[in-house]
Amino acid sequence: MNILPTGGAMVDHFALSESLSKLGQGHLLAGLDHLDPVTRDAHLARLAEVDWQELHHQLAVHTAGEVSGSRVVDPAERDRRAGDLEPLGESAYRDGRVAVLMVAGGQGTRLGFSGPKGCYTIGHHSHKSIYQLQAEKVLSLSRRVGKAVPFLIMTSPMTDAETREFFAAHGDFQLAPGQVRMFSQGTVPSLDQQGRALLEKPGKLLENPDGHGGCFTALVKSGQLERLRAEGVEHIAYIQVDNITVPVDDPLLIGLAVAEKTDVITKVLEKANPDEKVGHLVRVGTHDCIIEYTELTPEQTRQKNATGEMVYRWGSPAIHCWSVAFLTRLASAGYKLPLHRSAKPLKAWTPGPSGGSVAEVKGWKSERFIFDLIPEASVSLGLAIRREAEFAPVKNATGVDSAESAVALASALHASWLAKAGVRLALPAGARIEISPLYAATERQFLAKWDNRIREITGDFYLEEERQARG
Ligand code: UD1
Repeated sequence: MNILPTGGAMVDHFALSESLSKLGQGHLLAGLDHLDPVTRDAHLARLAEVDWQELHHQLAVHTAGEVSGSRVVDPAERDRRAGDLEPLGESAYRDGRVAVLMVAGGQGTRLGFSGPKGCYTIGHHSHKSIYQLQAEKVLSLSRRVGKAVPFLIMTSPMTDAETREFFAAHGDFQLAPGQVRMFSQGTVPSLDQQGRALLEKPGKLLENPDGHGGCFTALVKSGQLERLRAEGVEHIAYIQVDNITVPVDDPLLIGLAVAEKTDVITKVLEKANPDEKVGHLVRVGTHDCIIEYTELTPEQTRQKNATGEMVYRWGSPAIHCWSVAFLTRLASAGYKLPLHRSAKPLKAWTPGPSGGSVAEVKGWKSERFIFDLIPEASVSLGLAIRREAEFAPVKNATGVDSAESAVALASALHASWLAKAGVRLALPAGARIEISPLYAATERQFLAKWDNRIREITGDFYLEEERQARG
């Protein structure tokens, strides 16, 4: 029997049934007769589309024995080469060879916020959303270099509509028409502990966004990668929506990519302590890769090399610079990122006598990680950054990596700019400093612009674009 789904593609029901049964997913075809034709066809089409084999494949965990340090441009090398690298980066911006890509498809479950994380209000004085802050950084960069730097935003089916509405309601935060380019990542079925796919409701798989690595496939599928290539964009500055101090204006990063012809640069920071929950940039055999903290034992995270240096010294704040040529090469070769599984409580529908119900079950979520592209790179480099200048993540509702801690970090960063400019700071505990990216998005921009309008700050302080300061 062949069933013609609404999408138009023919699904061979028998072949599908056979292959699903072989993979322990035969239950997904139960109760088809009770579904309305549209739901049934869409369900069958999706079942036929999913790569069930890869969902069952378990990834090999990296072994610690083969691990050594990656080549990292440390602070001393940065300083030494800045004079050569920055002009190269500056030219790349001005020639339109750089785009910014922000991944914003995550569900923000840990933050306890139901909408897209980017809609979360974070500006202490301005009450700006995370999206606004990130968009204003791109605007600031575009104004500075006289070029509308393309701002790609990856959403997911869970965040897409709200993100689009949010940007539309705010007039794309003054960015130029066509500058904001949204595209959605894919999804993968969530599994129960036995590896059986779960349902959200009758005739609909329970799925989760396919991880930030989904942006590789989505960039290709949506045509965005080809568009960048055709426009002459060579470098993609990759950021996560949840890091509120991440800079997008970084001539040294781009200059390094130009000078060293890198496929990828990964920014790294000295870990706060061996147990910090971050990924690590290391070299396994002849290639760089990121090893997540979840893959390491406490003993491994403390491992030292022959010269006494910590092997897992460099933490990844998930800031990269990808070469468009590298991504295009991988896409042409049909490269597909692997899936990683993590145990999660999931809300799934189970059939029952009175029509079934939704309940919490323990299961598996599978995701692709963008940094799994790193081992494919011929030229991969680490670039050491100052944590206090570039990393203020908003992950949790309270405590470490919360909105509160991120705001405090952003405030300390902006206070440091003022102090560098010679402003005396006598701040009581809890006072917050906020500088709008439209006044200055980087320390350098701030120092060049600051007009000494105020000599001392003794409490909350907010600096907006070209407006009078309040102190
Ligand atoms: C991530 C990194 C970790 C790094 C840390 C720095 C992983 C597995 N680990 O951890 O190496 O040290 O950030 O902050 O990524 N996202 C999507 N689509 C998805 C899932 C996530 O766009 O399907 C986006 C989120 O919106 C967010 C970012 O990816 O911007 C990070 O995702 P998250 O799952 O929170 O990563 P972490 O576990 O915090």
